[in-house]
Amino acid sequence: MIKHLRSAADLDAATATLILDTAGEMAALAGREVKKLPTLRGRTVVNLFYEDSTRTRISFEAAAKRLSADVINFSAKGSSVSKGESLKDTALTLQAMGADAVVIRHPASGAPHRLAAWVDGSVVNAGDGTHEHPTQALLDAYTMRSRLGRLDGLRVAIVGDVLHSRVARSNVLLLTTLGAEITLVGPPTLIPVDIAAALSPKTKVSYDLDSVLPDMDVVMMLRVQTERMQDSYFPSAREYSRRYGLDLARMRKLPEHAIVMHPGPMNRGMEITPEVADSSRSTIVEQVANGVSARMAVLYLLLGGKA
Ligand code: NCD
Repeated sequence: MIKHLRSAADLDAATATLILDTAGEMAALAGREVKKLPTLRGRTVVNLFYEDSTRTRISFEAAAKRLSADVINFSAKGSSVSKGESLKDTALTLQAMGADAVVIRHPASGAPHRLAAWVDGSVVNAGDGTHEHPTQALLDAYTMRSRLGRLDGLRVAIVGDVLHSRVARSNVLLLTTLGAEITLVGPPTLIPVDIAAALSPKTKVSYDLDSVLPDMDVVMMLRVQTERMQDSYFPSAREYSRRYGLDLARMRKLPEHAIVMHPGPMNRGMEITPEVADSSRSTIVEQVANGVSARMAVLYLLLGGKA
């Protein structure tokens, strides 16, 4: 087993499949009255969050607690980070406390890689800048596999603000490793020219959502990340929705069995309409539930558990 999960590229097909299978076993636990396993009793998991988060932070906390680990939640606001303490000094503090795993979300791409050099425990990337978010990709892959039965040969469209999306990057890496065929869709300004080739040579790019939908098994909508945009990448929110938003009329172009995904948080009315987000094809709430199982599997396996 690998020691750290910094990038979806850390996972080969066998390791990724082992994590998804283990997540399946963890999910079975969620249906029980007592949702706890003693596996990580006495181990310490630190959640180190330098960026806002709802789902991911709660999900990692729930995952570690269901495995009976001691959980320390650290958020940059209200800590010595606001006094200017560096990531390295914070890391040394965690090291002194004997953290067995550090889950880190950070606005700087590459922060988890630096951290891994400073602590003895396992490092899990919970989102670093616009770079990667590997556990999101794992929970997405898990959701696709449980809804559609397979990943190999699955046709997946990832739609919208690819440029700023760590979710897109990690998904392309993981899903291609597992045999899915990816098409990135969005306005040219939000799809870097060389991104598809750099991530995986087989990845396709399209600027026309309507023409892509009839061939897809999965359509994954991305949030338009205005907080990361310094320039204007499209004329207006209305224009963006008209071309790249998923509404009911567009959703009907998908094959009958296809599912609609979104990592959250959503801009309802922008990249996805409420009717689509709340429809029976949407797996958005399921993705959140699966996130806990996927993160349990990651913590369990990284900290030395067997399948
Ligand atoms: C994503 C993130 O923070 O990278 N959300 C998440 O983790 N569920 C996507 C986003 O912010 O749009």
